[in-house]
Amino acid sequence: MTIQTETPVRTLVIRVLRHNPQDPDSEPGWARYELEEYEGMTLFIALNEIRERFEPSLQFDFVCRAGICGSCGMVVNGRPGLACRTLTSTLGPEITLAPLPAFRLIGDLSVDTGAWMRGMSERLETWIHETESADLHALEERMEPELAEQIYELDRCIECGCCVAACGTARMRPDFVGAVGLNKIARFRLDPRDRRSDSDFYQLIGDDDGVFGCMTLLGCHDVCPKDLPLQTQIAFLRRKMVTVS
Ligand code: SF4
Ligand code: F3S
Ligand code: FES
Repeated sequence: MTIQTETPVRTLVIRVLRHNPQDPDSEPGWARYELEEYEGMTLFIALNEIRERFEPSLQFDFVCRAGICGSCGMVVNGRPGLACRTLTSTLGPEITLAPLPAFRLIGDLSVDTGAWMRGMSERLETWIHETESADLHALEERMEPELAEQIYELDRCIECGCCVAACGTARMRPDFVGAVGLNKIARFRLDPRDRRSDSDFYQLIGDDDGVFGCMTLLGCHDVCPKDLPLQTQIAFLRRKMVTVS
């Protein structure tokens, strides 16, 4: 990682909630780092600089640095967000960073969203259930562009976990599928290739771990870095489920 050489804009104080659950002697606590801010600095750049200059053992996750892989979710000044897409210039000079709650902590800012997402996907069977007679080698039926667009819109979820971390229900109910899960069901309901009926979907999310557990707190909608229409999808599913139940 190259250290910037331009003129600094401000001095930042970054506090990171550190804890290594693998180490029995590790106690959760805030570590304080001071560094110069440069034009265009993101939290990704800042964290790399901290790791390079002060704390080689600092744990955090990044893959794409472009808001695509969903691995860099963390709580920034109390609000879940993507570190790679957060410019430090949009924050005050004092910044606190903590791991996303609701997921297993790996260490410092690194959490295991993958295991949570896999468990949710298996429970909700988030794949297309084709009819048994479907010919896998046949060309797919043409889909109206408007419908393909609607499906694509919901498919933009990057499974970052921010919506789960921002949701009070998910904090109280470990099996709650969260807005990410409800969004996936909304996506598969739309897909004409999926043979599941509304009543099949109801079986998957028609309880307190699904759409009826949602208390419409809407933290999910506020923090989703992909601006997915979570509020609309949840309201739609709830109305739909009431009619089939
Ligand atoms: Fe992230 Fe939004 Fe998907 Fe939730 S719905 S996992 S906040 S992209
Ligand atoms: Fe949680 Fe979003 Fe519902 S924050 S309670 S899933 S509206
Ligand atoms: Fe991939 Fe941030 S590093 S979304």
